[in-house]
Amino acid sequence: MAFATALRCRECSREYPLEPMNICEWCFGPCEVVYDYEAIRKQISRKSIEAGPLTVWRYRDLLPVGDGPVVDLHAGYTPLLKADNLGRMLGLDNLYLKNDCVNPTYSFKDRVVTVAATIARQMGFDTLACASTGNLAGAVAAHAAKAGMKAYVFIPADLEKVKVVGAAIYGPTVVAVNGSYDDVNRLCSEVADNYRWAFVNVNIRPYYAEGSKTLGYEVVEQLGWRAPDHAIVPVASGSLLTKVWKGMNEFKDLGLISEVKTRMHMVQPLGCSPVVTAHAEGVMSVKPVKPNTIAKSLAIGNPADGYYALKVLKESHGTATAVTDPEVIEGIHLLARTEGIFAETAAGVVISGLRKLAQSGAIGKHDLTVAYITGNGLKTQEVVEDSVKTWPVQPTLASFRHALAAHGHA
Ligand SMILES: Cc1ncc(COP(=O)(O)O)c(C=O)c1O
Ligand SMILES: [Zn+2]
Repeated sequence: MAFATALRCRECSREYPLEPMNICEWCFGPCEVVYDYEAIRKQISRKSIEAGPLTVWRYRDLLPVGDGPVVDLHAGYTPLLKADNLGRMLGLDNLYLKNDCVNPTYSFKDRVVTVAATIARQMGFDTLACASTGNLAGAVAAHAAKAGMKAYVFIPADLEKVKVVGAAIYGPTVVAVNGSYDDVNRLCSEVADNYRWAFVNVNIRPYYAEGSKTLGYEVVEQLGWRAPDHAIVPVASGSLLTKVWKGMNEFKDLGLISEVKTRMHMVQPLGCSPVVTAHAEGVMSVKPVKPNTIAKSLAIGNPADGYYALKVLKESHGTATAVTDPEVIEGIHLLARTEGIFAETAAGVVISGLRKLAQSGAIGKHDLTVAYITGNGLKTQEVVEDSVKTWPVQPTLASFRHALAAHGHA
Protein backbone atom coordinates (compact mmCIF):
# COMPACT_ATOMS: atom_id res chain seq x y z
CA MET A 1 0.00 0.00 0.00
CA ALA A 2 1.46 3.37 -1.02
CA PHE A 3 0.65 6.41 1.10
CA ALA A 4 2.07 9.27 -0.98
CA THR A 5 -0.86 11.26 -2.36
CA ALA A 6 0.52 14.30 -4.20
CA LEU A 7 3.36 16.76 -4.66
CA ARG A 8 2.93 20.10 -2.90
CA CYS A 9 4.81 23.36 -3.44
CA ARG A 10 6.71 24.27 -0.27
CA GLU A 11 6.00 27.94 -0.89
CA CYS A 12 2.47 28.43 -2.24
CA SER A 13 1.08 24.96 -1.25
CA ARG A 14 -0.35 24.26 -4.72
CA GLU A 15 -0.70 20.53 -5.24
CA TYR A 16 0.33 18.47 -8.25
CA PRO A 17 -0.11 14.81 -9.19
CA LEU A 18 2.74 12.39 -8.40
CA GLU A 19 4.68 13.00 -11.59
CA PRO A 20 8.31 13.71 -12.45
CA MET A 21 8.63 17.37 -11.53
CA ASN A 22 10.46 19.47 -8.94
CA ILE A 23 9.55 23.12 -9.37
CA CYS A 24 6.10 24.66 -8.88
CA GLU A 25 4.75 25.97 -12.18
CA TRP A 26 3.04 28.83 -10.36
CA CYS A 27 5.74 30.30 -8.09
CA PHE A 28 8.91 28.31 -8.90
CA GLY A 29 9.09 26.99 -5.32
CA PRO A 30 10.37 23.43 -4.78
CA CYS A 31 7.85 20.61 -4.47
CA GLU A 32 7.64 18.06 -1.69
CA VAL A 33 5.82 14.73 -1.39
CA VAL A 34 2.55 14.74 0.60
CA TYR A 35 1.44 11.65 2.51
CA ASP A 36 -1.80 10.43 4.02
CA TYR A 37 -0.47 10.35 7.57
CA GLU A 38 -3.84 9.24 9.02
CA ALA A 39 -3.67 6.07 6.94
CA ILE A 40 0.01 5.55 7.77
CA ARG A 41 -0.74 5.91 11.47
CA LYS A 42 -3.19 2.99 11.25
CA GLN A 43 -0.63 0.81 9.49
CA ILE A 44 2.67 1.58 11.17
CA SER A 45 4.07 0.71 14.61
CA ARG A 46 7.45 0.14 16.21
CA LYS A 47 6.73 -3.56 15.85
CA SER A 48 5.86 -3.38 12.16
CA ILE A 49 9.05 -1.44 11.46
CA GLU A 50 11.19 -3.84 13.51
CA ALA A 51 9.79 -6.76 11.52
CA GLY A 52 10.94 -5.18 8.22
CA PRO A 53 14.10 -5.78 6.21
CA LEU A 54 17.45 -4.48 7.53
CA THR A 55 17.56 -1.78 4.86
CA VAL A 56 15.89 1.59 4.27
CA TRP A 57 12.91 -0.40 3.02
CA ARG A 58 11.86 -1.15 6.61
CA TYR A 59 10.43 2.42 6.42
CA ARG A 60 8.64 1.79 3.12
CA ASP A 61 5.31 3.18 4.36
CA LEU A 62 7.03 6.57 4.72
CA LEU A 63 8.72 6.52 1.31
CA PRO A 64 7.05 7.73 -1.89
CA VAL A 65 6.99 4.54 -3.96
CA GLY A 66 4.13 2.40 -5.15
CA ASP A 67 3.70 -1.31 -4.60
CA GLY A 68 5.98 -3.80 -6.29
CA PRO A 69 9.67 -4.63 -6.38
CA VAL A 70 12.29 -2.09 -5.32
CA VAL A 71 15.76 -1.47 -6.76
CA ASP A 72 17.69 -2.78 -3.82
CA LEU A 73 21.43 -3.05 -3.19
CA HIS A 74 20.82 -3.18 0.58
CA ALA A 75 21.16 0.52 1.34
CA GLY A 76 20.77 1.62 4.91
CA TYR A 77 20.48 0.11 8.37
CA THR A 78 24.12 0.99 8.86
CA PRO A 79 25.78 0.79 12.30
CA LEU A 80 25.24 3.39 15.00
CA LEU A 81 28.42 3.10 17.06
CA LYS A 82 29.07 4.42 20.56
CA ALA A 83 32.26 6.49 20.22
CA ASP A 84 33.85 6.23 23.66
CA ASN A 85 37.43 6.95 22.58
CA LEU A 86 36.58 10.03 20.54
CA GLY A 87 34.07 11.06 23.19
CA ARG A 88 36.75 10.92 25.87
CA MET A 89 39.00 13.18 23.81
CA LEU A 90 36.22 15.69 23.25
CA GLY A 91 34.76 15.50 26.76
CA LEU A 92 31.52 13.89 25.58
CA ASP A 93 30.07 10.90 27.47
CA ASN A 94 27.29 10.08 25.13
CA LEU A 95 28.63 10.35 21.60
CA TYR A 96 27.46 8.14 18.73
CA LEU A 97 28.58 7.89 15.10
CA LYS A 98 26.15 6.95 12.35
CA ASN A 99 28.50 5.12 10.01
CA ASP A 100 27.15 5.45 6.48
CA CYS A 101 30.57 4.64 4.99
CA VAL A 102 29.43 1.02 4.77
CA ASN A 103 26.58 1.48 2.32
CA PRO A 104 26.71 -0.44 -1.02
CA THR A 105 28.62 2.34 -2.82
CA TYR A 106 30.15 3.69 0.39
CA SER A 107 28.10 6.82 1.03
CA PHE A 108 24.65 7.82 2.27
CA LYS A 109 23.65 8.57 -1.32
CA ASP A 110 22.58 4.94 -1.74
CA ARG A 111 19.61 5.78 0.48
CA VAL A 112 18.29 8.46 -1.84
CA VAL A 113 19.09 6.55 -5.00
CA THR A 114 17.40 3.28 -4.03
CA VAL A 115 14.21 5.35 -3.65
CA ALA A 116 14.84 7.37 -6.83
CA ALA A 117 15.66 4.33 -8.97
CA THR A 118 12.54 2.55 -7.73
CA ILE A 119 10.19 5.46 -8.48
CA ALA A 120 11.91 6.11 -11.83
CA ARG A 121 11.27 2.53 -12.91
CA GLN A 122 7.68 2.75 -11.67
CA MET A 123 7.20 5.93 -13.73
CA GLY A 124 8.40 4.09 -16.84
CA PHE A 125 11.83 5.69 -17.29
CA ASP A 126 14.56 3.57 -18.86
CA THR A 127 17.42 5.98 -18.05
CA LEU A 128 18.69 7.19 -14.69
CA ALA A 129 20.84 10.34 -14.48
CA CYS A 130 22.25 12.83 -11.99
CA ALA A 131 24.36 15.90 -11.37
CA SER A 132 26.92 14.78 -8.82
CA THR A 133 29.72 16.03 -6.59
CA GLY A 134 31.01 12.43 -6.70
CA ASN A 135 29.17 10.12 -4.35
CA LEU A 136 25.83 10.39 -6.09
CA ALA A 137 27.38 9.34 -9.40
CA GLY A 138 28.51 6.00 -7.94
CA ALA A 139 25.15 5.37 -6.29
CA VAL A 140 23.20 6.17 -9.46
CA ALA A 141 25.46 4.07 -11.68
CA ALA A 142 25.29 1.04 -9.36
CA HIS A 143 21.52 1.15 -8.88
CA ALA A 144 20.99 1.65 -12.63
CA ALA A 145 23.09 -1.46 -13.24
CA LYS A 146 21.02 -3.42 -10.73
CA ALA A 147 17.77 -2.13 -12.27
CA GLY A 148 18.87 -2.85 -15.84
CA MET A 149 18.55 0.86 -16.70
CA LYS A 150 20.84 3.07 -18.76
CA ALA A 151 22.72 5.74 -16.83
CA TYR A 152 24.27 9.14 -17.52
CA VAL A 153 26.17 10.68 -14.63
CA PHE A 154 27.40 14.27 -14.87
CA ILE A 155 30.36 15.28 -12.70
CA PRO A 156 32.83 18.17 -12.47
CA ALA A 157 35.95 17.14 -14.43
CA ASP A 158 38.30 17.78 -11.47
CA LEU A 159 36.74 15.11 -9.22
CA GLU A 160 38.78 12.67 -7.11
CA LYS A 161 39.94 9.83 -9.41
CA VAL A 162 38.50 7.11 -7.19
CA LYS A 163 35.07 8.67 -7.37
CA VAL A 164 35.23 8.71 -11.18
CA VAL A 165 36.37 5.07 -11.33
CA GLY A 166 33.88 4.17 -8.60
CA ALA A 167 31.06 5.38 -10.83
CA ALA A 168 32.41 4.36 -14.26
CA ILE A 169 32.95 0.75 -13.22
CA TYR A 170 29.17 0.11 -13.22
CA GLY A 171 28.98 1.00 -16.93
CA PRO A 172 27.20 4.36 -17.07
CA THR A 173 28.12 7.17 -19.45
CA VAL A 174 30.27 9.46 -17.32
CA VAL A 175 30.05 13.06 -18.52
CA ALA A 176 33.00 15.02 -17.10
CA VAL A 177 31.99 18.67 -17.31
CA ASN A 178 34.61 21.37 -17.55
CA GLY A 179 33.18 23.47 -14.71
CA SER A 180 32.05 23.48 -11.07
CA TYR A 181 29.22 21.42 -9.60
CA ASP A 182 26.94 24.42 -9.99
CA ASP A 183 27.75 24.47 -13.73
CA VAL A 184 27.03 20.73 -13.88
CA ASN A 185 23.71 21.25 -12.14
CA ARG A 186 22.66 24.03 -14.52
CA LEU A 187 23.56 21.87 -17.51
CA CYS A 188 21.58 18.95 -16.08
CA SER A 189 18.44 21.11 -15.70
CA GLU A 190 18.67 21.87 -19.43
CA VAL A 191 19.36 18.26 -20.36
CA ALA A 192 16.42 17.14 -18.21
CA ASP A 193 14.14 19.48 -20.22
CA ASN A 194 15.31 17.91 -23.48
CA TYR A 195 15.55 14.18 -22.76
CA ARG A 196 13.08 11.89 -21.03
CA TRP A 197 15.51 10.74 -18.39
CA ALA A 198 15.01 10.40 -14.64
CA PHE A 199 17.48 12.89 -13.21
CA VAL A 200 17.38 11.79 -9.60
CA ASN A 201 18.23 15.23 -8.18
CA VAL A 202 16.50 17.33 -10.83
CA ASN A 203 13.11 16.20 -12.16
CA ILE A 204 12.52 13.49 -9.54
CA ARG A 205 14.24 15.33 -6.69
CA PRO A 206 11.14 15.43 -4.42
CA TYR A 207 11.02 11.60 -4.34
CA TYR A 208 14.79 11.13 -4.16
CA ALA A 209 15.20 13.54 -1.24
CA GLU A 210 12.75 11.54 0.86
CA GLY A 211 15.33 8.73 1.06
CA SER A 212 17.44 10.88 3.40
CA LYS A 213 14.66 10.76 6.01
CA THR A 214 15.83 7.23 6.75
CA LEU A 215 18.96 8.69 8.40
CA GLY A 216 16.59 10.29 10.92
CA TYR A 217 14.42 7.19 11.38
CA GLU A 218 17.33 4.79 11.83
CA VAL A 219 19.10 6.83 14.45
CA VAL A 220 15.90 7.16 16.48
CA GLU A 221 15.24 3.43 16.22
CA GLN A 222 18.85 2.45 17.00
CA LEU A 223 18.91 4.72 20.06
CA GLY A 224 15.99 2.68 21.43
CA TRP A 225 13.21 4.85 20.02
CA ARG A 226 14.37 8.26 21.08
CA ALA A 227 15.69 11.30 19.25
CA PRO A 228 19.18 12.55 20.17
CA ASP A 229 19.84 15.88 21.88
CA HIS A 230 22.19 16.91 19.06
CA ALA A 231 22.73 15.89 15.43
CA ILE A 232 25.78 17.09 13.49
CA VAL A 233 25.14 16.98 9.74
CA PRO A 234 27.37 17.95 6.78
CA VAL A 235 25.70 20.33 4.34
CA ALA A 236 26.14 20.69 0.58
CA SER A 237 22.70 21.35 -0.95
CA GLY A 238 21.17 21.23 2.55
CA SER A 239 18.73 18.46 1.65
CA LEU A 240 20.13 15.82 4.02
CA LEU A 241 19.89 18.08 7.08
CA THR A 242 16.29 19.03 6.37
CA LYS A 243 15.28 15.42 5.81
CA VAL A 244 16.92 14.05 8.97
CA TRP A 245 14.85 16.62 10.87
CA LYS A 246 11.72 15.76 8.90
CA GLY A 247 12.17 12.04 9.54
CA MET A 248 12.53 12.44 13.29
CA ASN A 249 9.48 14.71 13.44
CA GLU A 250 7.37 12.33 11.37
CA PHE A 251 8.09 9.64 13.97
CA LYS A 252 6.88 12.03 16.68
CA ASP A 253 3.77 13.03 14.72
CA LEU A 254 2.94 9.36 14.16
CA GLY A 255 3.22 8.67 17.89
CA LEU A 256 6.27 6.39 17.52
CA ILE A 257 8.26 8.64 19.88
CA SER A 258 7.01 11.24 22.32
CA GLU A 259 9.28 14.19 21.55
CA VAL A 260 12.03 15.60 19.34
CA LYS A 261 14.23 18.07 21.16
CA THR A 262 17.15 17.59 18.82
CA ARG A 263 19.32 20.58 18.03
CA MET A 264 20.38 20.30 14.39
CA HIS A 265 23.95 21.51 13.82
CA MET A 266 25.18 22.15 10.29
CA VAL A 267 28.82 21.98 9.27
CA GLN A 268 30.44 23.12 6.02
CA PRO A 269 34.01 23.50 4.78
CA LEU A 270 35.10 27.14 5.06
CA GLY A 271 35.95 27.21 1.34
CA CYS A 272 32.31 26.48 0.53
CA SER A 273 30.16 27.67 3.41
CA PRO A 274 27.39 29.87 1.99
CA VAL A 275 24.75 28.52 4.37
CA VAL A 276 26.96 28.92 7.46
CA THR A 277 27.68 32.50 6.33
CA ALA A 278 23.97 33.28 5.97
CA HIS A 279 23.37 31.89 9.47
CA ALA A 280 26.21 33.96 10.92
CA GLU A 281 24.80 37.08 9.27
CA GLY A 282 21.31 36.29 10.53
CA VAL A 283 19.77 36.27 7.06
CA MET A 284 17.61 33.61 5.43
CA SER A 285 18.79 34.12 1.86
CA VAL A 286 21.94 32.27 0.85
CA LYS A 287 24.42 34.15 -1.31
CA PRO A 288 26.09 31.77 -3.81
CA VAL A 289 29.88 31.32 -3.58
CA LYS A 290 32.59 29.86 -5.80
CA PRO A 291 33.79 26.74 -3.94
CA ASN A 292 37.44 26.28 -3.06
CA THR A 293 37.89 23.31 -0.71
CA ILE A 294 39.28 19.79 -0.54
CA ALA A 295 35.84 18.65 0.66
CA LYS A 296 34.61 18.22 -2.89
CA SER A 297 31.52 16.25 -1.93
CA LEU A 298 30.28 19.36 -0.12
CA ALA A 299 31.33 21.83 -2.82
CA ILE A 300 27.96 23.24 -3.84
CA GLY A 301 28.20 27.00 -4.09
CA ASN A 302 24.49 27.58 -4.74
CA PRO A 303 22.67 25.17 -2.41
CA ALA A 304 19.10 24.32 -3.48
CA ASP A 305 17.90 23.67 0.07
CA GLY A 306 20.01 26.24 1.91
CA TYR A 307 16.99 28.31 2.91
CA TYR A 308 15.16 25.26 4.28
CA ALA A 309 18.26 24.13 6.18
CA LEU A 310 18.39 27.58 7.82
CA LYS A 311 14.73 27.20 8.76
CA VAL A 312 15.50 23.88 10.45
CA LEU A 313 18.32 25.50 12.42
CA LYS A 314 15.92 28.17 13.61
CA GLU A 315 13.23 25.68 14.58
CA SER A 316 15.64 23.33 16.34
CA HIS A 317 17.88 25.96 17.97
CA GLY A 318 20.83 24.57 16.06
CA THR A 319 24.15 26.11 15.13
CA ALA A 320 26.29 26.48 12.01
CA THR A 321 30.05 25.90 11.91
CA ALA A 322 32.69 26.11 9.18
CA VAL A 323 36.06 24.35 9.32
CA THR A 324 39.24 24.96 7.34
CA ASP A 325 40.80 22.42 4.96
CA PRO A 326 43.62 21.55 7.43
CA GLU A 327 40.92 20.96 10.04
CA VAL A 328 39.14 18.63 7.60
CA ILE A 329 42.31 16.51 7.40
CA GLU A 330 42.75 16.61 11.18
CA GLY A 331 39.16 15.44 11.57
CA ILE A 332 39.73 12.47 9.23
CA HIS A 333 42.82 11.44 11.22
CA LEU A 334 41.14 11.90 14.58
CA LEU A 335 38.17 9.73 13.61
CA ALA A 336 40.37 7.00 12.16
CA ARG A 337 42.77 6.89 15.12
CA THR A 338 40.14 6.98 17.85
CA GLU A 339 37.29 4.96 16.39
CA GLY A 340 38.73 2.88 13.54
CA ILE A 341 36.61 4.52 10.85
CA PHE A 342 38.28 5.85 7.70
CA ALA A 343 35.84 8.39 6.36
CA GLU A 344 35.94 10.97 3.60
CA THR A 345 36.38 14.73 3.71
CA ALA A 346 32.71 15.36 4.53
CA ALA A 347 33.27 13.43 7.77
CA GLY A 348 36.47 15.38 8.42
CA VAL A 349 34.23 18.46 8.33
CA VAL A 350 31.80 16.81 10.74
CA ILE A 351 34.42 15.68 13.26
CA SER A 352 36.26 19.01 13.34
CA GLY A 353 32.92 20.80 13.59
CA LEU A 354 31.92 18.49 16.44
CA ARG A 355 35.17 19.26 18.24
CA LYS A 356 34.43 23.00 18.01
CA LEU A 357 30.90 22.49 19.32
CA ALA A 358 32.19 20.46 22.25
CA GLN A 359 34.92 23.02 23.05
CA SER A 360 32.49 25.94 22.90
CA GLY A 361 30.09 24.21 25.29
CA ALA A 362 27.29 24.14 22.68
CA ILE A 363 27.17 20.38 23.33
CA GLY A 364 27.10 19.39 27.00
CA LYS A 365 29.17 16.52 28.43
CA HIS A 366 26.20 14.22 29.01
CA ASP A 367 24.13 15.19 25.96
CA LEU A 368 23.10 12.38 23.62
CA THR A 369 24.94 13.36 20.44
CA VAL A 370 25.00 11.80 16.98
CA ALA A 371 27.56 12.76 14.33
CA TYR A 372 26.67 11.70 10.78
CA ILE A 373 29.58 10.07 8.94
CA THR A 374 28.28 10.09 5.38
CA GLY A 375 31.03 8.80 3.08
CA ASN A 376 34.02 6.45 2.94
CA GLY A 377 37.64 7.60 3.23
CA LEU A 378 38.93 5.28 0.51
CA LYS A 379 37.28 7.68 -1.96
CA THR A 380 39.28 10.74 -0.90
CA GLN A 381 42.66 9.21 -0.17
CA GLU A 382 44.60 11.95 -1.92
CA VAL A 383 43.94 14.43 0.89
CA VAL A 384 45.68 12.22 3.48
CA GLU A 385 48.20 10.21 1.48
CA ASP A 386 51.06 12.63 2.21
CA SER A 387 50.41 12.47 5.95
CA VAL A 388 50.72 8.69 6.34
CA LYS A 389 54.08 6.88 6.49
CA THR A 390 55.42 3.36 5.99
CA TRP A 391 58.69 1.76 7.16
CA PRO A 392 60.78 0.41 4.26
CA VAL A 393 62.67 -2.70 5.49
CA GLN A 394 64.56 -5.65 4.00
CA PRO A 395 63.00 -9.07 4.68
CA THR A 396 65.39 -9.75 7.55
CA LEU A 397 64.98 -9.53 11.31
CA ALA A 398 68.09 -7.36 11.49
CA SER A 399 66.59 -4.82 9.11
CA PHE A 400 63.34 -4.77 11.06
CA ARG A 401 65.24 -4.32 14.36
CA HIS A 402 67.14 -1.47 12.77
CA ALA A 403 63.86 0.19 11.76
CA LEU A 404 62.43 -0.26 15.28
CA ALA A 405 65.49 1.42 16.78
CA ALA A 406 65.55 4.17 14.15
CA HIS A 407 61.95 5.07 15.02
CA GLY A 408 62.57 4.93 18.76
CA HIS A 409 60.31 1.89 19.26
CA ALA A 410 63.00 -0.39 20.68
C1 LIG B 1 29.48 12.38 1.69
C2 LIG B 1 28.44 13.45 1.61
N1 LIG B 1 27.97 13.96 2.75
C3 LIG B 1 27.04 14.94 2.76
C4 LIG B 1 26.54 15.48 1.59
C5 LIG B 1 25.56 16.61 1.67
O1 LIG B 1 24.30 16.32 1.20
P1 LIG B 1 23.25 17.45 0.84
O2 LIG B 1 23.54 17.87 -0.58
O3 LIG B 1 21.95 16.74 0.96
O4 LIG B 1 23.40 18.59 1.81
C6 LIG B 1 27.01 14.98 0.37
C7 LIG B 1 26.48 15.53 -0.90
O5 LIG B 1 26.90 15.23 -1.96
C8 LIG B 1 27.98 13.93 0.38
O6 LIG B 1 28.46 13.41 -0.76
ZN1 LIG C 1 4.31 27.35 -5.65
